[in-house]
Amino acid sequence: MTRANMREAEGPGPRGPVLDRRLLCRALAGLGAEALPRVSKAASREPSLAALAAAKGVVFGMALTREQVQEAPALARVALAEAAMLVPGNELKWGAVEPAPGRFDFVDADALVDLARSHRMQSRGHALVWHEALPAWIGTSPTRAEMSGALSRHIGALCGRYAGRMHSWDVVNEVIEPSGERSDGLRRTPFLGALGEDYIARAFSLAAEADPDAILTLNDYDLERDTEWQARRRAAMLDLLNRLIRRGVPVRALGIQGHLDPAKGPLDPEIFRSFIRAVASLGLSVFITELDITDRLLPGDIAARDQAAAETTRDYLTAVLAEPSVRMVVTWGVSDAYSWVDGNRRTRRTDGLASRPHLYDGAFRPKPLRAAVADAFRSAPARPIAR
Ligand code: XIL
Repeated sequence: MTRANMREAEGPGPRGPVLDRRLLCRALAGLGAEALPRVSKAASREPSLAALAAAKGVVFGMALTREQVQEAPALARVALAEAAMLVPGNELKWGAVEPAPGRFDFVDADALVDLARSHRMQSRGHALVWHEALPAWIGTSPTRAEMSGALSRHIGALCGRYAGRMHSWDVVNEVIEPSGERSDGLRRTPFLGALGEDYIARAFSLAAEADPDAILTLNDYDLERDTEWQARRRAAMLDLLNRLIRRGVPVRALGIQGHLDPAKGPLDPEIFRSFIRAVASLGLSVFITELDITDRLLPGDIAARDQAAAETTRDYLTAVLAEPSVRMVVTWGVSDAYSWVDGNRRTRRTDGLASRPHLYDGAFRPKPLRAAVADAFRSAPARPIAR
């Protein structure tokens, strides 16, 4: 998270959709958040992104963290007004939620799940098994028995606690990494080392046992562009999904993160859409789970940069929403005041300017990116109502 460009919301406030102020007051009180920003009377009655998406059978959500909600009530206000689903950005990651073996701390995750519930919004869980954000106690090379025990306890506890309350879970995150010498393109992780490829099937079975209703998702990045590298990633992902489905593993959706980075190569909508169709032909839904834009190669000038980011995002969403299997779009953040993009050496700009990856700017005002997402929902074909 970067706070370099963090500013308090001032002035008229975002011209976004209107929010029930009483509900927000109640929810923020539960989170210990203090001053509530004024809700502008001038706020337009423009439909929320959630409403525009729902009209086409798509769920629209936003990821946020408890810390952001506490520090910036204006950010919570935007998310609650725009989204139909909240995703805890870090609070359900293994290291955050199980700091010692078998000792779980659900305080922060509960606060966000309760916030969603008190606004009749859905929640989604991110992420049960990921090679990053692991607690130190897992170690780098746990034995088969240690890893097996840890996996059952962890997934049983998280999926059990939120059973019936999660729309979906990212069960395994970022599993493909075809640069190694493995022919299956699977990423080497402590899970793979201890349990072999079977860790993936086990994780899905454990999650299904503890929460039969959540849509269990395999989530990954760099699956869309027309480059040799991403073609290899797509092929490895399709092979894996085929193996899992053949074995009856309860994977129900592919999550495509959607961290858009024009620097990574061109996007051919037909190539991307045919990948999505191949995934759908296995009976899976497709979710865009972490939409934002890495603007490191876009111009420094803010108006030009925002325009280019909006166009890139509109083209991307227009392509994916043309596929009826795409049933969810979640943005990985709310406002440029907080973004993982500036916190990461590989994604931040080299000119020292703050990144502008999100739909709302650092003062919580809607950007051209927000309008682009709205346009893409407006022009998308309808699909049967999503859960
Ligand atoms: C990021 C969070 O947004 C940051 O706050 C944290 O420091 C690192 O992780 N892919 C994922 C997310 O699946 O979990 C990552 O989230 C961003 C990339």
